[in-house]
Amino acid sequence: RMPLLLDCDTGIDDAFALTYLACRPEVEITGIVSTAGNVPTEAVLGNNLVLAELLGIDAPVARGARTPLVQELMTAEDTHGPTGLGHARLPTPTRQADDRSGAQLWVDAARRHPGQLVGLVLGPHTNLALALEIEPELPRLLKRLHVMGGAINHRGNTGATSEWNVAVDPEAAQRVLIAFSEAPTRPVLAGLDTTEAVRFWQPELDAVRALGDHPVVPILVEALQFYFEFHQADGFGWSAHVHDPLVAAHAVTGRFLETTPLPVDVELTGTLTRGQTVADPLGRWGREPNVDAATSADAPAFIAHLWETLRSGLST
Ligand code: BDR
Ligand code: CA
Repeated sequence: RMPLLLDCDTGIDDAFALTYLACRPEVEITGIVSTAGNVPTEAVLGNNLVLAELLGIDAPVARGARTPLVQELMTAEDTHGPTGLGHARLPTPTRQADDRSGAQLWVDAARRHPGQLVGLVLGPHTNLALALEIEPELPRLLKRLHVMGGAINHRGNTGATSEWNVAVDPEAAQRVLIAFSEAPTRPVLAGLDTTEAVRFWQPELDAVRALGDHPVVPILVEALQFYFEFHQADGFGWSAHVHDPLVAAHAVTGRFLETTPLPVDVELTGTLTRGQTVADPLGRWGREPNVDAATSADAPAFIAHLWETLRSGLST
């Protein structure tokens, strides 16, 4: 099976990604790192512990850093609800967090599966950046890193040009991009350019409700309902952009995204553009491409694959 470490800020779409991964028989989730982002670390940790328990994921769940590397933490309760999962009311987790830091969990997982571990970042990059301080060889220890982050030829969803996961901790995102330019296989950077192609409307909300009796289903329904309310209030209509599971599905299957090699860096100093991912397609910087940037997505094929996976994985 494919050993995979998930780093996320659960988060409504993160919850769908986690559920998707738990339903894929070829994936072995080796650990979950709870990163501050959509909501503070403690709330993310609680969500991850409960979801892991309900989904039967027998892997350590770690508490990540409480703040970004440099700037203050910003959170998005308006988008994801007061605890990160919309209207869902979660039971108190019976499982405990792992004793290790999120950064240490990255390092231990990579050392345990040298050359095999797939890293998947669906939130800010804080813990992976901290892990690089402990183990600078991480880029060479991972099989491949997959990231949901940035917006290259697309407006931002946080600042005018910045995407949430990068905007929450731009220094961490930049450190990761620089360190992983040494990786034998370029990381995949999938940003809003492709993830906004995945949009759920009422039929998708109905499809989630119809997934059956599994205890995770009402959580996903109540979370998604809130996500729709936020997007409607934000002018997007009765729908939701569901970013993270597409990137998870590409990491697992290699399908649904087209990518192109590009030099990409993070703007740290722009007064209007801090946190923007800037690409250099014409090579003006004289740098080699450091990422495979996602340029287009086959959203219908991905959504069909998601339902197929959830229907078989959640059947009770
Ligand atoms: C990203 O930001 C978060 O709110 C979502 O979970 C996703 O990972 C999209 O910009
Ligand atoms: Ca996320």
